[in-house]
Amino acid sequence: MRIIKVENYEQLSREVADLIAAEIREKPKCVLGLATGSTPVGAYKLLVRAYESGEIDFSEITSVNLDEYCGLPPDNPESYRRFMDENLFNHINIDKAKTHVPNGMAESLDAEAKGYEALIKSLGGIDLQLLGMGHNGHIGFNEPDEEFKALTHHVHLAEQTIKANSRFFESPEDVPKSAITMGIETIMHAKKIIIAVSGNDKANILKKALFGTITPRIPASILRLHNNLTVVTDCLT
Ligand code: F6R
Repeated sequence: MRIIKVENYEQLSREVADLIAAEIREKPKCVLGLATGSTPVGAYKLLVRAYESGEIDFSEITSVNLDEYCGLPPDNPESYRRFMDENLFNHINIDKAKTHVPNGMAESLDAEAKGYEALIKSLGGIDLQLLGMGHNGHIGFNEPDEEFKALTHHVHLAEQTIKANSRFFESPEDVPKSAITMGIETIMHAKKIIIAVSGNDKANILKKALFGTITPRIPASILRLHNNLTVVTDCLT
């Protein structure tokens, strides 16, 4: 595990954007696993800037997103598809047909989850997976649990996650109660993983995840078993 300690969110965004840009330069046809939430927004902005100044070409990239809320249509302002379009895809030369986000409106969410897993396999797996981490240690929407859930699946969101994500909605009642998420095994199969963690309010859970017991109660703790993990954080001194 490599830990890149930075001073603030700006530096974190710069490091993450640089790591993603390096991957794209090394492998222009790479499969990027992407995340939503507040953490990657700064890095996405820098990637857009790099594209605009001709430094990166996204034309051959394929992307797969970690997760999507159930019950929100893709054009809903809070859907993760819309988030990706607005924060990244609409501003770069990626082929939208090669950007994948689980369909949270699918009639059968289990079939959708299975299909998403098969899609990732058919792409040859994920070259570089970007992750954020929730205040309860979740990655994707793999919430604290008795066991690690392996593959892409339909999940009920933890109360803490609903509360945390309600900042994007008018009220907590509007936050969807479930989602489709890549599983722990799906994530661990990525060839490289970057986890970006920002803010003092995540310092304790990050320390537990990186230096405490590996347990499904703190889903991010399993990442230490990955052989190419980079942690970029402004909350470790
Ligand atoms: C988003 C995702 C989540 C977030 C996590 C942190 O696709 O899978 O695990 O990465 O909830 O969210 P922020 O960055 O908003 O603190």
